[in-house]
Amino acid sequence: MSAELSPIDRAKFVAAKRAVDYVQDGMRVGLGTGSTAAWMVRCLGELVREDGLRVTGVPTSRRTAELAQKLGIKIVTLDEARWLDLTIDGADEFDGDLNLIKGGGGALLQEKIVATASDQMIVIADVAKEVPALGAFPLPVEVIPFGWQTTKALIEETLVSLDVLGRDATLRMNGDSAFITDEGNYIVDLHLRRIGNPRQFSLVINQIPGVVENGLFIDICDIVIVGHATGRVEVRDINNGTVEDGQIDFAANENLFAEF
Ligand code: A5P
Repeated sequence: MSAELSPIDRAKFVAAKRAVDYVQDGMRVGLGTGSTAAWMVRCLGELVREDGLRVTGVPTSRRTAELAQKLGIKIVTLDEARWLDLTIDGADEFDGDLNLIKGGGGALLQEKIVATASDQMIVIADVAKEVPALGAFPLPVEVIPFGWQTTKALIEETLVSLDVLGRDATLRMNGDSAFITDEGNYIVDLHLRRIGNPRQFSLVINQIPGVVENGLFIDICDIVIVGHATGRVEVRDINNGTVEDGQIDFAANENLFAEF
């Protein structure tokens, strides 16, 4: 069955599989959103069902909540959990300092709140997500629907003074209508090509009235687990300054592929 997975799914799966090794019995865990995070939820669900792992999940989107519930993972809201031991999530881009762009799936606001409320954040990604500088992936900015065109214009005006290579801003669509986030907001995607100073960029953009949050995650991620289609996994820990190499055996996980 694993032979039927695309190379990218194989890479996502092995990163996810390695990440659940960090989940210990009794932990409160933030559950990310996206296709890589969905693999992690499946791996976690298997540990709950097969090994009796006790874990409480806080999902970062309705999609993830539905998947976790279906797989038998107990979920609560962040208000119920208050603080988490660990969050595991995907990313759209990560750089050498483990700063991220997230929100390609539109869940950046809940993802950022949940990751920030965690002792540790682990990002799982296929190797294509690594970049020398953030910004090739359009940066999602969540904005309030009220006056969104004014907010977008203010963002565009602000971009002129920031160290970026591109300045196009587009409202994210879902067919003929604006894409609506789980919090009822819109997303403006910024096509910046390269962000010279992500920390400054994030602070400045968040000052604009109408902007709720942006998809830059600065100094939030502790570990990135990079998956390769061959089964190789690299674990990069920014706090310890370590890089570990490992290998995941696809044959030992066929049951996970059979389910989906
Ligand atoms: C969801 O809003 C995003 O932040 C995702 O975590 C990110 O886009 C990665 O998604 P994939 O794992 O599907 O690439």
